[in-house]
Amino acid sequence: MATETSSRLDSEVRRRRTFAIISHPDAGKTTLTEKLLLFSGAIQIAGSVKARKASRHATSDWMEIEKQRGISVASSVMQMEYRDCVINLLDTPGHQDFSEDTYRVLTAVDAALMVIDAANGVEPQTRRLLQVCRARNTPILTFVNKMDREVQAPLTLMDEIERELGMSVVPFTWPVGMGKFFGGVLDLGKDQMRVFSPGEERATQDDEIIHGLANPVLEERFGSAYMEAAGEVELVQEASPPFDETEFLAGRQTPMFFGSAINNFGVREVLDALVDMAPAPGSRPALQREVQPAEPKFTGVVFKIQANMDPAHRDRIAFLRVASGHFERGMRLKVVRSGKELRPNTVVSFLSQRRELLEEAFAGDIIGIPNHGVLQLGDTLTEGESLQFTGLPFFAPEMFRAVEVADPLRTKQLRAGLTQLGEEGAIQVFRPVAGSLLLLGAVGQLQFEVVAHRLEHEYGVKARIMPARYNVARWVTCDDADGGERELKRFIDGNAHRVALDAVDAPCVLLEYAGELRAMQENWPKIKFHALREHA
Ligand code: G4P
Repeated sequence: MATETSSRLDSEVRRRRTFAIISHPDAGKTTLTEKLLLFSGAIQIAGSVKARKASRHATSDWMEIEKQRGISVASSVMQMEYRDCVINLLDTPGHQDFSEDTYRVLTAVDAALMVIDAANGVEPQTRRLLQVCRARNTPILTFVNKMDREVQAPLTLMDEIERELGMSVVPFTWPVGMGKFFGGVLDLGKDQMRVFSPGEERATQDDEIIHGLANPVLEERFGSAYMEAAGEVELVQEASPPFDETEFLAGRQTPMFFGSAINNFGVREVLDALVDMAPAPGSRPALQREVQPAEPKFTGVVFKIQANMDPAHRDRIAFLRVASGHFERGMRLKVVRSGKELRPNTVVSFLSQRRELLEEAFAGDIIGIPNHGVLQLGDTLTEGESLQFTGLPFFAPEMFRAVEVADPLRTKQLRAGLTQLGEEGAIQVFRPVAGSLLLLGAVGQLQFEVVAHRLEHEYGVKARIMPARYNVARWVTCDDADGGERELKRFIDGNAHRVALDAVDAPCVLLEYAGELRAMQENWPKIKFHALREHA
């Protein structure tokens, strides 16, 4: 370590790209993921990601989700090498009931690839995920998929993306025809056309290239489809701003590519764009200071916890994003929150989706640390420095249930189970300041079902999940200037019947109607009500 030059750290950081794919279910995320892995040589056989994919249609079937949970540990982070780069691709759960988990995953990436189904345009899940990226100024690349189908006109799509997502779109490629008459894409930067030919097994090096966008061959071969595309390109280039790297890096402008993932078409261009355009890991804010990625000392933050599949071994994998320094197997790490020391020897990385023992990692990499509960969501690990990274979001739940144990002798197990599930982020657990029933808060109904199932199978607790009358929750704080803790205590005492403490003892007010919140805000002008709590 001592001899390690900062230039090695610098170059390791510079060659890393860490991103997630965001899309609405069915847009082609799985297919594209698989093709990206294929092109980077990380997997040899197409179909292996697909085979592992959680059933898209298991909308209310938690058994399915349960079955998939084990494999999703392996597939939730994928690392591959492409050109000179190390690419970390983070998977996000497709089902919107688990969107909280997705939001947290998005805090660990430096860029996002948005996949849009060209027939459906911008769909609700895409919109939601994009808002999260926008809030963090995450740069976004756009891939318009399924051009081999009858889809919306490219100009219409471009318009829709700009309007709905509020950012300007700069096409890097433009489609010639669509569906049965999809001829390929005009590559506006390289001044050439890449000709489409269908087929899953084809390598893209075999794509036919026609040089020169004004090459008369194009009109001869593709006729009116080419003429139309050329006209549109002219229009678009006149009307839209040129690509501006600063705007892109600020998440205000997105480069757009067209293709067909299933046919391996346009995928390599996106991979190249990720390498060429997406940013390398940058600095990350901590409460105490800004942390630079090439600092010599290791730091990292836990953004996701996933329980293991095997209920007999209750260990969990904490996913940690390396924020700085050089991680080496066996090094001593400090969990800043608890002050505990950790010396993980079985840290895993996720090369080509197999869990492999990891030897070293750099900023931008994701490492998995198996543990029995020493690590929680939002934890910062360092070589000793007291540092706390910020920004991991917890959203105010929108659904509530009371939970009670069927056999009172197992109350302790219920509490232990819920504490662990809460720490994983599977559910939020609230303890009312007056009253003894625990409350569960979730963003999606499925979370309750998963928790009931896991309590029974992993903790041996049959829980009764019962309706609760709350529908709105807000974390409450009070600035020092407004009386701080004393005012907050006055508020809590005055509203004890509807205040509860969350997993980290942050007070939260629980209400039946949004209208009540407004009244409360008027009555307590010094109290701040938050729909989002950032881990700090
Ligand atoms: P997701 O992860 O975003 O949910 O989407 P996924 O990749 O599973 O793709 C959803 C469906 O769209 C799949 O079909 C997939 O084969 C298809 N698809 C993906 N890319 C393309 C494309 O470029 N062109 C066309 N025409 N279809 C595409 P499915 O029938 O739902 O599943 P399967 O039977 O193929 O497994």
